[in-house]
Amino acid sequence: MSTTQTAQPWWRRGAIYQIYPRSFADADGDGVGDLRGVIAHLDHLNDGTPGSLGVEALWLSPFYPSPMADFGYDVADYCDVDPVFGTLADFDELVREAHARDIKVVIDFVPNHTSDRHPWFVDARAHGARRDWYVFRDGRDGGPPNNWCSDFKAVGPAWTREPEGDQWYLHSFLPQQPDLDWGNPAVEAAMHDLLRFWCERGVDGFRIDVAHKLAKDPQLRDRRPGERPPNEDWEPEIHERLRRLRQVVDAYPDRMLVGEVYLLDLRRVVTYINSGDELHLAHNFVFLQLPWSAAAFRSSIDGFTALSSKIAWPAWFLANHDHARVASRFGGDGHGAARARAVLVMLYTLRGTPFIYQGEELALPDADIPPERVVDVDGRDPERAPLPWRAPSEAGPGAGFTTGTPWLPLVAEAEHLNVATQGRNPASALRLARRLAWLRRERPALQRGEQRSVEVHEDVLAWLRIETDERYLVLMNFATQARRITMPPDLPPRGTVELSSDAGREEGDIALDALALAGSEALVLRIDP
Ligand code: GLC
Repeated sequence: MSTTQTAQPWWRRGAIYQIYPRSFADADGDGVGDLRGVIAHLDHLNDGTPGSLGVEALWLSPFYPSPMADFGYDVADYCDVDPVFGTLADFDELVREAHARDIKVVIDFVPNHTSDRHPWFVDARAHGARRDWYVFRDGRDGGPPNNWCSDFKAVGPAWTREPEGDQWYLHSFLPQQPDLDWGNPAVEAAMHDLLRFWCERGVDGFRIDVAHKLAKDPQLRDRRPGERPPNEDWEPEIHERLRRLRQVVDAYPDRMLVGEVYLLDLRRVVTYINSGDELHLAHNFVFLQLPWSAAAFRSSIDGFTALSSKIAWPAWFLANHDHARVASRFGGDGHGAARARAVLVMLYTLRGTPFIYQGEELALPDADIPPERVVDVDGRDPERAPLPWRAPSEAGPGAGFTTGTPWLPLVAEAEHLNVATQGRNPASALRLARRLAWLRRERPALQRGEQRSVEVHEDVLAWLRIETDERYLVLMNFATQARRITMPPDLPPRGTVELSSDAGREEGDIALDALALAGSEALVLRIDP
């Protein structure tokens, strides 16, 4: 591959920013975020200047017509926009406005299941022509056809019985989300058409929901206790189906597929990106589940690199709409905010594409959701709290997210943790995130350089990024106390501080030997080649 900057595909260049549309920005005051809210705030993502986040792409979680049993992941029409979010015309305008700012648009594609209100399932239930688009089976001994359980613990069995007869249908999630039968070629063909529909509308990429579920045991055998699907036996079929999805998008220039590959085994995760003809990127959930320890991160990063082929490119993320935010997940001891800042440094400077979940640029924690406001079946409301844009003391209780009543409570800290207030504070997480993004944009070594782990201290994760005459050293202290590092002899004695997650760090030239990192500090240094 050529080493010129322009030769990097867009999905490797910089961050992909996840928008959860219900909670990003509400333009019409109904308390739920919408597409016009996204359009109004595109400059926050990238206005072409270092005063913005400089993102390469946005990823929109589902905005399709939906009964919202799973807040949009139960799709009733794959080719339209739910009225709560706007219209197709709004979507087209969003794409136009994003492209005008050099922001690519990635949308969520939910191929494993539909809503139970989707016309296909309505027809299937009525024993129509699409009966075999879903998985209807006879029960066993008066119970469901097998022992499979929903991924949502509160749901229990992955089967729901039809009111008449003894047939049950499969749902890996809610009963309102019946699984499609991907063994049926008509289903696969319909899915291909949907991808084409959105490619024609100018969409640049797709995030494939539960990509690892696109094939299941056709014989529906019981799962062993603790067994997580997919069983490795069905994985070749998943790979084939992903390859065919890839062929569909490859008919359009420069499109990208990123998969939610929820497998807790790095050896299997890499098989989805190693061959170059399936997914471009795979979300790595092993990384998401690591404890806060330099050793754990070091071995996971090195392990991923060792297993990856030459063409594979990592995608790093530590938060999304399904998992506790970094500031809370690693915040039990009061150090969550500092760690969330250090994580920003890590995500932007590791070799790979950073995925930033809305609010991570503010080091936002999860919100406290009182029991009477709980709406999600699987406990994910805290990380889905609306994004605070302005201080409530200036903008009212909706914090610039809405003029109405927000569908979920905002974080208690919105007075300080909001876009406007942090934008004015040079020491804020937001200003750090902007600097990181633009540093990465400007420095080829940080964007595409080779990566090498360095041993400097057991509590400090350290790596080099190298590209011809450019060399960077990134140091991340996992301890809450200061740590003095020992430099390997082959590195130069001095370096230049580019930036630090610790607002107290002075910039400029420093001695590397016996350098002390502050507790939870992540530091980017330029060193001589
Ligand atoms: C994915 C989504 C999650 C959703 C589930 C079912 O894991 O990220 O939000 O509930 O799929 O579609």
